[in-house]
Amino acid sequence: MPGSRITALGHFQPTRVLTNDDLAAMVDTSDEWIRRRTGIATRHIAGDAESVTDLAAEAAAKALATAGLAPSDIGLVTVATCTAIDRLPSTAAQVAGRLGIPNAVTYDLNNGCAGFCTALACADHTVRAGAARHALVIGAEKMSHITDWSDRSTCVLLGDGAGAAVISATEGDEEGAIGPVVWGSDPTRSHAVRLVDEWHPKFAQEGQAVFRWVTGELPHVAREACAKAGIAPGDLDGVVTHQANLRIIEALVRQIGLSESAVIARDVVNSGNTSAASVPMALAKLVERREIAPGGRVLLFGFGSGLSWAGQVVTCP
Ligand code: ACO
Repeated sequence: MPGSRITALGHFQPTRVLTNDDLAAMVDTSDEWIRRRTGIATRHIAGDAESVTDLAAEAAAKALATAGLAPSDIGLVTVATCTAIDRLPSTAAQVAGRLGIPNAVTYDLNNGCAGFCTALACADHTVRAGAARHALVIGAEKMSHITDWSDRSTCVLLGDGAGAAVISATEGDEEGAIGPVVWGSDPTRSHAVRLVDEWHPKFAQEGQAVFRWVTGELPHVAREACAKAGIAPGDLDGVVTHQANLRIIEALVRQIGLSESAVIARDVVNSGNTSAASVPMALAKLVERREIAPGGRVLLFGFGSGLSWAGQVVTCP
């Protein structure tokens, strides 16, 4: 059975940047509070006419160009998203249309902030099974569409963006470079991250409960992903967790047992929480800036609504 590996990455964010001072003019908050409690300085916000498909297609086009593949090489397009308004056709089908990908299986996947790592595992399994040779795996969100701009406890957190990865079957005896996934959910806690208001759905969460869950129960899951990939946490070159906020990231990675030289993704500072887009976007930027060298081994780890988690160790292109 062949393995698979990530061969190229891409990312895209809308041009409009919303600062903490901009938010302080909208709700009762301050740059100081937001930075101290969340680490976030800015987030990118899509225009009214800019859709999840627009964001996804931009990131995917970059990944495809970097991979040097023809659109017809792609056998699977999957978009992890919880904010796509168009359910038919799926965002993935629309991206395939935009990029001229003729015959791929296309589907969207909603697993909240664990969505990209979940989609990556599904694509890896598809390639391993021989059902596709090359796949586009995308995380794309327009969180601003489900943001309650009058709720200071959530509107300061969220942002828009997209990240994409091309994955391809390995050749000959080459080992797979996408490690076994560790995934699951705890539906007894599902109320902790949810949408409220049926007619105009808005993001809501019990922030402290989520914080306690992530920092109390997920470090051992992250270590399990390393164990399944046959790597000690101390030998990782980097960690890209879901970019929920800086405090939660630092509290989580502190418990994994990394070396001092391991690179920790902190894209949340400039991008806010972009749900399923946060892991591929942060990974693509680290690789683009060469902060993680080709061949570097990185733990990807998503968590959020469900409450769900998914993570795996990957080798960077
Ligand atoms: N500005 C000023 N004050 C604020 C703001 C704000 N933007 N937001 C809340 N406050 C106030 C509250 O009203 C409260 O005031 P009170 O004590 O007078 O009632 C006080 O600050 C403390 O509020 P908390 O909600 O308890 O603040 P906390 O320290 O818990 O920080 C935060 C909130 C940042 C959301 C934190 O709970 C957290 O990081 N939770 C984790 C959430 C998470 O990771 N979710 C990810 C999964 S879901 C997803 O990613 C899509």
